[in-house]
Amino acid sequence: MSDILKLSKVSKSFGPAKIIKNLDLNIKKGERHAIIGPNGAGKSTLFHLISGHYTPTSGSIVLNNEEIGSLDPHDINRKGLARSFQVTNIFPKMTVAENIRCGMLWAKDYKYSIFKLVNNENELNKSTSEILEELNLNHCANIPAGLLSYADQRALEIGITIASGADTIMLDEPTAGMSNSETARAVELIKKISEKRTLLIVEHDMGVVFDLADRISVLVYGEIICTDTPKKVRTNKKVQEAYLGTEEH
Ligand SMILES: Nc1ncnc2c1ncn2[C@@H]1O[C@H](COP(=O)(O)OP(=O)(O)O)[C@@H](O)[C@H]1O
Ligand SMILES: [Mg+2]
Repeated sequence: MSDILKLSKVSKSFGPAKIIKNLDLNIKKGERHAIIGPNGAGKSTLFHLISGHYTPTSGSIVLNNEEIGSLDPHDINRKGLARSFQVTNIFPKMTVAENIRCGMLWAKDYKYSIFKLVNNENELNKSTSEILEELNLNHCANIPAGLLSYADQRALEIGITIASGADTIMLDEPTAGMSNSETARAVELIKKISEKRTLLIVEHDMGVVFDLADRISVLVYGEIICTDTPKKVRTNKKVQEAYLGTEEH
């Protein structure tokens, strides 16, 4: 499998604090890749770097053979990479369907202001309802997104990322704050949407990580100490000492 995303010697400092240190990471096209590591390791910062919300202090980030390290988030999005945030990020007053349409239009370079003009386009409505179907949210298409349950809001957020048409999806702690049954539903959804896409996920729930991931990278204090299959990561000595061994599971 070829690499869809390639980070080489990427560093990020905030003032004197080196948060990401000379990091190399290759993501294969079509794989489900999880990033794990203790709080404050730099996982969200790494996501912000890849999605263009932060610019690397040094190093190179290549998506589909193209350098994206200095591009802004919208340009990176249009090159096929979309992400969700650790904190839920939807438009609560818009309906569920409008949130999805927004994700599509934004990727197509429309502005929100002409949103209503294209509201009736059949094609747009068809794609919207296909995504809502995938999310199991068709029955609440026309209610304000802010009225959905927390778990459904997070599902909608995943829907907005795929609505952009991206084939590389990044999710930052998608099951945070969910009950066991909500987590199980979210995992099924993530499995489904990543069948034909590349998935990069930050997740604290080790059950979810070991269920979902083809490969795992362990980030500790801004450095990846191991990238391997779940089975090998679990038994890796360095990982046990630095991270897994200290967690209660
Ligand atoms: N914009 C910022 N300015 C200064 N420090 C930051 C900024 N963003 C993150 N950090 C610091 O970087 C470290 C890693 O944070 P983060 O990437 O959120 O970790 P994780 O997601 O692994 O918990 C933390 O010590 C945090 O305080
Ligand atoms: Mg984080």
